[in-house]
Formats: sequence, structure tokens, C-alpha cells
Amino acid sequence: MTAHQPVFDVEALRRQFPILHQEVHGRPLIYLDNAATTQKPQAVIDAIDRYYAHDNANVHRGVHSLSERATAAMEQARESVRSFLNAGEVAEVIFTRGTTEAINLVAHGFAREVLRPGDEVLITALEHHANIVPWQQACAASGATLKVADIDDNGEVVLADFEAKLSERTRIAAFAHVSNALGTINPIEKMIALARAAGAAVLIDGAQAVAHTPVDVQALDCDFYALSGHKLYGPTGIGVLYGRHEWLERLPVYQTGGDMIREVSFDKSVFAPLPHKFEAGTPHIAGVIGLGAAIEWLRGVDWPALIAHEDRLLARATERAAGLPGMTIVGRAQRKAGVLSFMLDGVHPHDIGTFLDFEGIAIRAGHHCAMPVMTRFNVPATARASFAAYNTLAEVDRLFEALDSVRRTFA
Ligand code: ALA
Repeated sequence: MTAHQPVFDVEALRRQFPILHQEVHGRPLIYLDNAATTQKPQAVIDAIDRYYAHDNANVHRGVHSLSERATAAMEQARESVRSFLNAGEVAEVIFTRGTTEAINLVAHGFAREVLRPGDEVLITALEHHANIVPWQQACAASGATLKVADIDDNGEVVLADFEAKLSERTRIAAFAHVSNALGTINPIEKMIALARAAGAAVLIDGAQAVAHTPVDVQALDCDFYALSGHKLYGPTGIGVLYGRHEWLERLPVYQTGGDMIREVSFDKSVFAPLPHKFEAGTPHIAGVIGLGAAIEWLRGVDWPALIAHEDRLLARATERAAGLPGMTIVGRAQRKAGVLSFMLDGVHPHDIGTFLDFEGIAIRAGHHCAMPVMTRFNVPATARASFAAYNTLAEVDRLFEALDSVRRTFA
């Protein structure tokens, strides 16, 4: 043990996740599909249970005690998110259904308020569909052009190309913090600085990052940061858009209806101040509370130790992959988080996934909602093992024993 390899009590952590303690097809579950969704600690399950068992009521409207408690719990969760991201104010924390809705909200606003014919939007070639399609739609609606910065054979953004594709017409650069398909950690500090120097706004898709690395939106100096609760040990159906106050003031409303208004007549409506301006309808109150609980739970985890542990998992997997005949890793960036995307000669990724399931091992196989990444690497799909804090080195070893069986079975 060195100062750089803090001890991480993974068994103690695992005990907090009830779902991990089961068998699948008669084998102990090894859950390696964390980039798709993470499992939930008991603290999150309890918070949601407590809310429905004791405090369930609608928020922001009622004068009764339950409504006051639900409202207080929801706004406490907003403060947890603010502090987790180090946003300057709670008004900059908008609850959405997830990263996808957060990006759609911004893209919709840019299409209506910012983008004009001849303007440009810059993304990269490693984006998830959620950070491609909304911008395609925004460009189609506004006459702007979508530009795409290349990635290299390792799955790293070519910074020179990113810089070259920024221009005085770039209104926004939108890119992933971490690639879901490749695991690449983008050098977002540099990319943000380049985009801002070109006068562009910046949106970061943080869906795959927030469970693996601390985020400080003020230090990053980004304009928007999107995340999903369910990839952060929290519930599905809830996510966050952080937006710089001035941008959120400037962007038009997204969905309209109850809760997001101050005054309505048949002639006109006056919208509520931030953050409620962007939160139409009854929110996913239980989801918000669960997300707040997930963040508070994560605060109790030793982050440097967590990062070192996940690095060890990925390093072990990468090392084992090098020793497995016929295995090719897709995505060999210098800096990666938690993802091993791979091919096995002569075996379709879906067959790998099915075979592993019978060994109790859950991975994902497919295009990972990143078809352009598959095209770039000339593969229809990959198999993907993705790690979380509760995975163990023994599980990585079991994965490779099973992959060896796959290889021999299909040989
Ligand atoms: N975007 C999620 C994944 O990468 C669903 O699996």
C-alpha cells in the first residue's frame, strides 16, 4: 500500500447494495453493466421508501404538513446537487428526466433563441445519441450547421481538429465528459477553454462521468452540465441540468403548464423564476429525493480511494484482455473511466452477452447508443463491461475466465 493507493473496503461497500447478493442462473451475480445503470445502495432505497411511506404529497402548492415536508425534502436534494457540482446557486439546478431531457432542453432553447442560419454547433465523434440527435434537430430547425470533431484510433478526440472546427460562428460546443462506448475521459478543461476562447457556449454531457470523478462546474467554467441520477447510484427517471444563471434566464421555456408559471390569463402567461421556469408539471419528487440520497451517500465514500479502486479494476481488465487470444479492445485512450469495450474474434457481441449471462455475468452488447462510434471503428457492435465502485478484482478475473470459455466454445 502506498499513499497513492488508498485502501478501499469494497466488501463493506457491497453490503450496502442488496441486489448484488443474488444468484443468476445458479451463479453469483457479477454486475458489469454499470455504464447502462448503476445499482442502488440501501440508503437510496430507504429514502424513496420513507418518502412514500411518510411524506408523499405534491410540492410547492400545498399548505399542509405533508406537502411542506415533501417540498423541503425536494429542495434539500436540490441543495445537495448544487453542492455536489459546486454550482453557484440552487437556481442553476434544474431537475429533468435525465441527461437526454437536459440536453434536449438546451438544444431546444438554442434552436429558438440563439442559432441562426449559418451558425454552427460543434460536437465530437464519440458522442452518445443523446448529444447528437437534439443538435441535429436544433440545426434543422434553425438553419445552423452541425460540425463534428474527429476521434483517433485510440478513441481520443483530436484536439487540433476540435480547435480547427471552432469558428466565430460556433454558438455552442457540446461534448461528453466520459464516452459511454469507449470509456475515454475527454480533456474537457482544454476543450472548454478552446470553445470559450472562440466565443462559444459549452455543454458537457456528464452522464458517464459523475459516478467516477468529482465535478466542479465553476472551476470547469462550463455553461451547462447534464447528468442522470441512475448512473450515479440513484433512481431512474431523474436527472439534472446545471446551467449558468445568465443562460437559463436567456433560454426560452421548454415544457409549459403547471408549476412553471407565476401568473396565467387567456391573454398571456408570466413564467416562474428559476429553477421552476424549466420544471413544468408535478416533478418526480421521489426521484429527486432518491437522487439527493445517492449524492449524500456518495459524499460518505472516500473519493480518492474510489477512483484508485476503479482504476485498478480497469487496469486488471486491460491487462487480462492482452492475454486473451482473439480479444480486441475498442477504445484505448490514455485516460479512461470504467469501460472496457471489446470484440472477440468470431463471436458476435450479443452471443458473448448471452453466454456470460448464463455465467451470472451481466454486460452490455450493442452499439451503446453511439452508432457513429461503431462506424468509426468499423464494427456493428461491441461487448462492453463497465465497472462501478462495488466491483471487485475477483469479478474481473471471473469475467475473463468466462470469456476464455466463450472463446473456446465458439472456436
Ligand atoms: N447510455 C447507456 C449506456 O451506455 C444506456 O448503456
